[in-house]
Amino acid sequence: MSEQIAYLNGEYLRLEDARVPVLDRGFIFGDGVYEVIPVYAGKPLRLAAHLQRLARSLAAIKLPNPHTDEEWAQLLAELVKRHPWADQSIYLHITRGVAPRNHAFPAVTKPTVFMMSGPLKLPSAEERSAGVRTLSLEDFRWQRCDIKSIALLGNCLLRQAAVEAGCKEAVLFRDGWLTEGAASNIFVIENGTLLAPPIDHLILPGITYEITLELAHQHGMPVKVAPISEAQTRQADELWLTSSTNEVLAITELDGHPVGSGRPGPAWRQMSEWFEAFKRDLRSGAEGVASAGVTRAGAPVEAALAGTPAAG
Ligand code: PDD
Repeated sequence: MSEQIAYLNGEYLRLEDARVPVLDRGFIFGDGVYEVIPVYAGKPLRLAAHLQRLARSLAAIKLPNPHTDEEWAQLLAELVKRHPWADQSIYLHITRGVAPRNHAFPAVTKPTVFMMSGPLKLPSAEERSAGVRTLSLEDFRWQRCDIKSIALLGNCLLRQAAVEAGCKEAVLFRDGWLTEGAASNIFVIENGTLLAPPIDHLILPGITYEITLELAHQHGMPVKVAPISEAQTRQADELWLTSSTNEVLAITELDGHPVGSGRPGPAWRQMSEWFEAFKRDLRSGAEGVASAGVTRAGAPVEAALAGTPAAG
């Protein structure tokens, strides 16, 4: 693989040479937030939505945004330019910086800003044609899964349990209700309707989730955003997982049982075609979804949290 370049606090350097002091609060407390932004033919997918979600995560942890959206766009473009791959995956990470170890925030903060890019690794042809296996698990993470926090131990433990069971992803339930995957959002197809769990404080407002719903609306696939029970999930005709690095992938097995026919279903094949067309438009510079440019990531969370004791 070609050499990976990192951006760290204003400098570009070889990824293997990038260093952060051990007292960085990201290292000590996991005190930071991140984004993963796919890049197709040099063009970041829904950059405005990713930056809006980043701003939301930063505000939620009371960390001032170190850059304007224009500055972020320039930094990202520069990082992309320094790598040879047409399709890349950018990892962007901001921590509260270096300070003596103390749970409360330091009086003065100099955030650590780190970015790296690698070739975009999408699911294999085999995973796309056969779908993937999943394991259901109780979602034992915290109550602010809407924040894209770098503190991902819960997600790592859940993903690892799935991997140890020979699965690609965990499907998480909290008190009998579907939340999401360890690093993905989950959709259900029931009698031809696309069901999605509502965006609230218990799931990440995925950019791919948003695009999937937009594509369904645009093409007239019936959509219902409402809480989904574990029983509904287990009886689904189809299950999908979505994320920036998986796009839309069919889940064909849950806990060793086939989902629907046990093969990627007709609704998934349709969505997959719409997603491919959407990517073609992005590559050619004309994003195809009607509401492209309208960035809503996180806005529904604000609405969901407004007025609840968990708010703020
Ligand atoms: N994860 N839910 C969780 C918990 C996630 O970690 C992710 C993505 C998603 C999907 O969000 P999006 O569609 O914006 O990628 C949902 C990234 C890819 C990661 O941690 O690597």
